[in-house]
Amino acid sequence: MDNFIERQKRAPVYEALERFRRQRVVPFDVPGHKRGRGNPELVQLLGEKCVGLDVNSMKPLDNLCHPVSVIYDAEALAAEAFGAAHAYFMVGGTTSSVQSMVLSACKAGDKIILPRNVHRSVINALVLCGAEPVYVNPDVDPHIGIALGMDLSQLKEAMDAHPDATAVFVNNPTYYGICSDLRSIVKLAHEHDMLCLVDEAHGTHLYFHDELPVSAMEAGADMAAVSMHKSGGSLTQSSLLLLGESMNTRYVEQIINLTQTTSASYLLLSSLDISRRNLALRGHDSFEKVRQMAEYARSEINSIGGYYAYGKDLVNGRSIYDYDVTKLSVYTRDIGLTGIEVYDLLRDEYDIQIEFGDIGNILAYISIGDRIQDIERLVGALEDIKRLYHKPTSKLHNAEYITPIVAATPQKAFYSDKELVPIRETAGRICGEFVMCYPPGIPILAPGEMITKEIIDYTLFAKEKGCSMQGPEDGSLERLNVLKE
Ligand SMILES: Cc1ncc(COP(=O)(O)O)c(C=O)c1O
Repeated sequence: MDNFIERQKRAPVYEALERFRRQRVVPFDVPGHKRGRGNPELVQLLGEKCVGLDVNSMKPLDNLCHPVSVIYDAEALAAEAFGAAHAYFMVGGTTSSVQSMVLSACKAGDKIILPRNVHRSVINALVLCGAEPVYVNPDVDPHIGIALGMDLSQLKEAMDAHPDATAVFVNNPTYYGICSDLRSIVKLAHEHDMLCLVDEAHGTHLYFHDELPVSAMEAGADMAAVSMHKSGGSLTQSSLLLLGESMNTRYVEQIINLTQTTSASYLLLSSLDISRRNLALRGHDSFEKVRQMAEYARSEINSIGGYYAYGKDLVNGRSIYDYDVTKLSVYTRDIGLTGIEVYDLLRDEYDIQIEFGDIGNILAYISIGDRIQDIERLVGALEDIKRLYHKPTSKLHNAEYITPIVAATPQKAFYSDKELVPIRETAGRICGEFVMCYPPGIPILAPGEMITKEIIDYTLFAKEKGCSMQGPEDGSLERLNVLKE
């Protein structure tokens, strides 16, 4: 353990950058701003230290596309801190980690078993590689409307029906905090000769606190995409890809380099390095504080009445096997307001920016950067909103998830001939593009899915309520791209 701490005190990329800065090397390489001298406005915006560290790969600083020195060492320390066989620093967001997982596990025509409430990056990966999704439709909570975790019996059915699938994909946890029985899913996947890939965009902290749900690497998963930039504290866009022992690292590296930049930002890389150090040395204490703040906020919000801040009480041993109590998800429809309405009120009337609001819920992100007085402010604002803005409740469009009907693979649909049709006339047609509220970025429609009246009504309701709708070529959502008949 002592050796672990001694090792984890190192931050090889950060230390190399500091050495490099002290050397005052004359730059005849990119980036062209030359430590900011060529762009004073950039220096004014970001400060001298920041632009001075915005440098390109070179021998003393290693190269992300083929790490052999300081990045290699920093990745080894990250692997140790996360209990993984290998870790890769990623600079294209967790989108790039997710896509590297899927592209490493699937080729054109392969099948992958996954819940449909995945992030758009997963289905985008299927567009890229031509794999076929086999969806395990999640149960939906009848009261709060959110999609739940993966039910083992449904997963087993899908595996028996598709024994040739190459991988199973799982969210751990979902944006709302729901966890599936990950250990059993990994076991089932391996018994069926399938890889288990885990999206831990919302699960970095699970690695640093024993009382939180199990992490992918601890559960024996083969790969995990971990958003260090979310709960891990690193700079936006930085992420980790973790591998278990089973993976062929050389192949995964080739896959990563299919789409990875050859000019990785050292601001992002060093932020990953020092955030890993911080988590390894202080993560447990930090996340204990986060856990306590979230639990406190939950009980205060529930005592207002009308709101439902859910937590461990949801756990049912099946589709909600565990709950990540650092999440602060609140169901708002019982005060007659949609989540997105509460989200807008918090920002416009109370200067409080939360992570997202959807049809029925809001999510306030609690992290190592929060303070109890900010939590009190959020609770006070929610109390006020209930008093001033509550409306009669309506059950219209309570569900955040509608079971899709898949008519073509995402890749085939994406590259088919398409036509733009008024959205109200698209029922019965096959969609050729994505439609989603962002965040959370879970597609309402993905390429290849049948459009139904229920989906059209839901989409227009979400738009009317002010959700940020993304995906379609026609940004106004008056028309949708459908496959030509
Ligand atoms: C579940 C999930 N996976 C992947 C991603 C992609 O992460 P990034 O925005 O870092 O690319 C997100 C983003 O919110 C997400 O919610």
